Amino acid sequence: MLDKLKELEDEARGKIEEANSLDELKEVKVLYLGKKGRLTALLRSLGSAPPEDRPVIGKKANALRQELEQAIERKEKSMHDEQKKGKWEQERIDVTLPGRPASPGQKHPLTMINDEIKEIFLGLGFQVAHGPDIESEYYNFEALNIPADHPARDMQDSFYITPQFLLRTHTSPVQIRAMEKRAPKLPVRVIAPGKVYRRDDDATHSPMFHQVEGLAVDRDITFADLKGTLLLFAREMFGADQKIRLRPSFFPFTEPSAEVDISCIMCGGEGCRVCSETGWLEILGAGMVHPRVLQIAGYNPREVTGFAFGMGVERIAMLKYGIGDLRLFFSNDLRFLKQFS
Ligand code: DAH
Repeated sequence: MLDKLKELEDEARGKIEEANSLDELKEVKVLYLGKKGRLTALLRSLGSAPPEDRPVIGKKANALRQELEQAIERKEKSMHDEQKKGKWEQERIDVTLPGRPASPGQKHPLTMINDEIKEIFLGLGFQVAHGPDIESEYYNFEALNIPADHPARDMQDSFYITPQFLLRTHTSPVQIRAMEKRAPKLPVRVIAPGKVYRRDDDATHSPMFHQVEGLAVDRDITFADLKGTLLLFAREMFGADQKIRLRPSFFPFTEPSAEVDISCIMCGGEGCRVCSETGWLEILGAGMVHPRVLQIAGYNPREVTGFAFGMGVERIAMLKYGIGDLRLFFSNDLRFLKQFS
């Protein structure tokens, strides 16, 4: 039996040596040390050995069991280490490879237009004001002379958060906030760029879009000031030979109110497909601040007057760059966006 043990030892050691993978090593382990393994079987058959030999054989067999276990463990560990090293070699960074050029980002076309609008009005002495995207029903409607039952609320189908709060449907509430902050001091001259939200979604409407609001309040501000300011804006934005046209309109927060057109930038006023043969393109709404709005915001409408306007940034960008579908601005397609560098 001692001979058999010796034989088994040599065989097992040989197999451990030869094992080329962790799987093979596991097989060797099962073959000798497993429940039905060869060494296990030998230990079990100890009963058939002569009683005086049993202690010696038993001791040796147990010692061998431990040794083989350790040998397998050592080999396992060295295989693990090898494997890790191999992976590391594979993943090693080749520092001599030429780098991939990082392409610098650029401004989104809407940001570019927004910046341009801001520049024009900053040059005229306006300051930039901001208001919250989540606006109270009071600032979005009530203070702008749009009472709860007014049909003008339906024109701006809204996203309500609670009955009192909604995503602002226009930047006009910033007019009220700016006046409240400054009253009774004069003048107020602000523009308010920002996001607005309406339940609209098609090629020319997006549920989120951008507006820039304008407001000037002072003594003796007239409709002529409004017209002159907007003409200057149109010329700076679209070219020095631009004309503008004001059409009577209605907004609850201005009186009188106007819709403002620029001469068509495609045909110069001749009439074409873009302007529906009219020669004109609508770009914004405007008017003289309603006396009630001035009063609500803390000014005496008998002493001061003001003008206001609101324009859609997407609309201006579409006209300026000749873009037919507004959704392109929000689809994150680099082939589109890269054209504006
Ligand atoms: N708030 C209006 C809208 O979103 C646009 C507007 C019209 C703003 C006239 C004004 C204004 O300041 O005077 O439809």
